[in-house]
Amino acid sequence: MLSETLSDSQNKKTMIEVLGLGYIGLPLAIRLAATGWKVTGMDINQDRVRRLERNNLMESELHLKKEFLECRNNKSLSFSTEPQKSTNSKIGIICVPTPIPKSDVKSDVFVRAAVEKFLDTSNEGCVIIIESSIEVGTTDEMKKIIESKGFVIGENFGLAFCPERIDPQNKKWRLENIPRVIYCSDDTTFEITQNVYSNVNNSNLIRVESARVAEVVKSFENTFRLVNISLVNELAMLCDKLGINVTDVIDAAATKPFGFVPFYTGAGAGGHCIPKDPRFLLESSKKLGLEFKTIEKALEINSFMPRYIAQSVDKILTEQNLKKSLIVCGLSYKPNMEDMRDSPGFKIVNEFSKLAYDVAVYDPFFKNELLDKYLYENNLEKADFHVLTDLDNSALDNISCICVVQHHTQTQLRLDEIYKKSLVPVLYDCQSKMIKDPKSKTILKSLGS
Ligand SMILES: NC(=O)c1ccc[n+]([C@@H]2O[C@H](COP(=O)([O-])OP(=O)(O)OC[C@H]3O[C@@H](n4cnc5c(N)ncnc54)[C@H](O)[C@@H]3O)[C@@H](O)[C@H]2O)c1
Repeated sequence: MLSETLSDSQNKKTMIEVLGLGYIGLPLAIRLAATGWKVTGMDINQDRVRRLERNNLMESELHLKKEFLECRNNKSLSFSTEPQKSTNSKIGIICVPTPIPKSDVKSDVFVRAAVEKFLDTSNEGCVIIIESSIEVGTTDEMKKIIESKGFVIGENFGLAFCPERIDPQNKKWRLENIPRVIYCSDDTTFEITQNVYSNVNNSNLIRVESARVAEVVKSFENTFRLVNISLVNELAMLCDKLGINVTDVIDAAATKPFGFVPFYTGAGAGGHCIPKDPRFLLESSKKLGLEFKTIEKALEINSFMPRYIAQSVDKILTEQNLKKSLIVCGLSYKPNMEDMRDSPGFKIVNEFSKLAYDVAVYDPFFKNELLDKYLYENNLEKADFHVLTDLDNSALDNISCICVVQHHTQTQLRLDEIYKKSLVPVLYDCQSKMIKDPKSKTILKSLGS
């Protein structure tokens, strides 16, 4: 019964299974194990499980290494490709991907599979917490699956939806200080989740009345970001024509102490959240016979940015009578990490290829052995580019332009040097971060200036 799970969870005696060990699941599993819970991390990706069993962490996970090794040494954290059989009740936290819905793929395909797997080894008193970003109605669908196994939600089985809000690499807002919205099927399940999240974010949970509210909140938060990113990028295109600097406009507008939130220009939103979650709202609207025009327009602008940038660069190189050869620098959609899912960098490469450019790419986080994965994650069939391992002088031979899509701390010094020493004819900065130096012979053009 849930009341027993509640009393067990007060002493951290309930086993926790985290299903999905990616950017969201692994840090959560480590955090819970490091604070006294017995945690099994479960993932269907055998290579990932094997890597973690060997205590190998990826670059973006290395900041968790100390806690990770402590948990591995005291055996509070184990890994598996299957959920664990247990005579006691357990808590399953679902952190699996949620793809953009298509005619042949539903967004809940992995969530459903994970819930079903967890149910195979579930007994009375278990709780499922969904952290994945889900489409409206998914929690109710999972409720039906749980009930089809004979459990009664709110009596002998708990269900919660607590969408993850993390912004990996954000040093100010981290897992432990981000408040979370949560829906719980009943009061006992809410108390159980409070015990779990006391070790995640000090139980800073905002409980909402229905799963639908929580589902819409998550998608709406990322819709807000997508719309504002598209808004500022559209403003950047206007500033290009006006010959004024968009960053000057935003910084001056941001002095208004109320009613304005600054967003800055770039090649467009990428990754597994901002371009995707608004589509969940769009899909729900369509099912109800409504249009959500703001989202449609924002998505359209977002997908137009790579073409706009490629055309802007092409115009400069044509005016300067320069060869169609360039380097696209920075392929991950976020600074200082290796996540290259749905990344504007790849879309820009694609646009340059269409314009018959000879394209090289450089990103210190790019791993050649993951090329197939990058192509798959960016919907590309083949690689129309060659990959540089360095931005040394020989890499710049016969290069007309470096198009900086993403600034990483690791590339900053070298890009500054290339600019100061005028080592390429043109530098195009999609994020308007480079500062003009009148002594440089390199033409520096930023998006929105
Ligand atoms: N990455 C972010 O910054 C972020 C932020 C907030 C919310 N989210 C949401 O969190 C969810 C997870 O995102 P992520 O970035 O961690 O994804 P990810 O791709 O990094 O990791 C997901 C993991 O789940 C595994 N998996 C797939 N199906 C499974 C199953 N049936 N059982 C067990 N494991 C399974 C995959 O093998 C993979 O290792 C998504 O819904 C995403 O939208 C992500």
